[in-house]
Amino acid sequence: MCGIIGYIGEKEAIPILINGLKKLEYRGYDSAGLTIQNNSQLSTIKKQGKIKELEKNLKDSKSKIGIAHTRWATHGKPNEINAHPHINQNNSISIVHNGIIENHNALKELLEKEGVKFSSNTDSEILAHLISKFYKDDLEEATIKALELVEGTYGLAVINKDKEEIIVARKGSPLIIGLGEHENFVASDVPAILEHTKRVIYLDDNEIAKIKKDSYKVKHINGNYVDKEIHEIKWSLDKIEKKGFKHFMLKEIYEQPLSIKNALRGRLTDNIKLNLNFDINEIQRIILLACGTSWHSALIGKHLIEKLTNIPVEVDYASEFRYRNPVISEKDLTIVISQSGETADTLAALKKAKSKKSKTLGLINVVGSTIAREVDSGIYLHAGPEIGVASTKAFTSQVLSLALLSLQLAKGKNLPIRQDLMDEIKILPNKISEFLKEDTKIREIAKEFKDSKNFLYLGRGINFPVALEGALKLKEISYIHAEGYPAAEMKHGPIALIDENMPVVFIATKSDLSPKILSNMQEVKSRNGKIIAIKNDNDYEIKKLADYTIKVPDTLEELSPIMNVLPLQLLAYHIADLKGIDVDKPRNLAKSVTVE
Ligand code: AGP
Ligand code: GLU
Repeated sequence: MCGIIGYIGEKEAIPILINGLKKLEYRGYDSAGLTIQNNSQLSTIKKQGKIKELEKNLKDSKSKIGIAHTRWATHGKPNEINAHPHINQNNSISIVHNGIIENHNALKELLEKEGVKFSSNTDSEILAHLISKFYKDDLEEATIKALELVEGTYGLAVINKDKEEIIVARKGSPLIIGLGEHENFVASDVPAILEHTKRVIYLDDNEIAKIKKDSYKVKHINGNYVDKEIHEIKWSLDKIEKKGFKHFMLKEIYEQPLSIKNALRGRLTDNIKLNLNFDINEIQRIILLACGTSWHSALIGKHLIEKLTNIPVEVDYASEFRYRNPVISEKDLTIVISQSGETADTLAALKKAKSKKSKTLGLINVVGSTIAREVDSGIYLHAGPEIGVASTKAFTSQVLSLALLSLQLAKGKNLPIRQDLMDEIKILPNKISEFLKEDTKIREIAKEFKDSKNFLYLGRGINFPVALEGALKLKEISYIHAEGYPAAEMKHGPIALIDENMPVVFIATKSDLSPKILSNMQEVKSRNGKIIAIKNDNDYEIKKLADYTIKVPDTLEELSPIMNVLPLQLLAYHIADLKGIDVDKPRNLAKSVTVE
């Protein structure tokens, strides 16, 4: 969600803060700001809109300490006043905050009674005044006292006008410390500091750290010091550059042959090899939990796992699961799926499953992320950093990992080996590369439909979730209203919407259900709907009915969602790009949703 970066060292802070913020832009934000400390004074500048607005307004101030923030508004409009940092009344303390202070109304009332005047409508401003209230001469102690009163979530960084230190604390929102030579960094995500250091410490919930230029100390909020492991980041900044592509999203779509190969590496040779630390024969049921695109891959996972292993599978939105009383036990395996590994609802759902003694497994892309550290065992997707807000390569890697997992579970249950599936998985990267050559044709189709107001996506069986994903992609980045439906459900309602202005995307690749899909296409055709069909070779029936066809290479039905989502990703991308939308940072969306 929002981004935090902080610097303390011997270099000029402002360029480091601004570059750091730019590396966090992909997370989504609506305003940006920073505070620097100089000659026992704090100077704060903030602006609504993009980081370049902030840059334009920067004075040539010198400083070796500072904190900066990109905000994704939860409380209060996205304007300059509500942008972070927030300061106390005498401008001696400045904070940046990610998360939500749930009891802000009560705390605000309390502080107002004591004469505090608030200048913004945010929940976060409370923190600046609370810390100030408790501050004598120890910023860390004052922060702990303030946080003791706070309910909610925070990734927090605090500076004071005359202390050479940054205090950071975390509960529910990610924060890392980057370690350098005579300089240290804080950030909400690795890319912000990667050009300066690869040595990082991941703060855990309820930890607070005092960071100076040559030292750092991490404590539990109860006062006990914690010995933290230092992690070495294995990837470099060139992984998050556009490399000639117009947008990150397009680059990430084109990276899929490689990201799929990386998800396979070392896991599928003559046999399947995943390290799982539970015995599948003790598992009676599997529960898949996720949000958004990851939830779509969970729906596909249900088909795969049930087909290959005969284990019953349930899929739930993490945000729903966390607030009900799920009947689960140690005989269940809960699988959480998350690209970022930081999604607040997914994390909370995972904790709930753990509290009920369920075994847990994570399918996560971001190494070292909170969910990755919280699960009993995990499968990293190895898709590399995904910067575009709309998830693409992480989705296909999730589906592939679910296929690998299904094979591994089947092996654990001594079920017949699906050699055909293993062989097909190995050639999938080549088939994806082959398909990507169709891109120009898809752009042409996008030109025809860029001004449509609505879209319908229809699919059946394992490809129904692909219809949902295609519709979500289009909504997210082109702002066109789109719905995904199981094709057979169309006649139970959505058919009323069909006329000559309604484009309907059919996922119509070969399957046992192909004849049924054809009937659904007939129904659309007879109501003058415009049909775009995703199909395999030589399907003359489809050709006759569809206004536009996009051909994808043949594959096994189990893997068809991976092939079939590719044209939908490209269609959404080109429509959004033709409409001139900032594809990588669409309005209102955040890359990792760390608030509920
Ligand atoms: C994907 O295009 C979306 N931006 C969103 O639905 C996303 O998949 C969802 O927020 C879950 O994120 P996660 O995989 O990082 O948990
Ligand atoms: N809740 C805070 C606000 O609305 C923090 C938002 C964020 O995480 O960016 O200002």
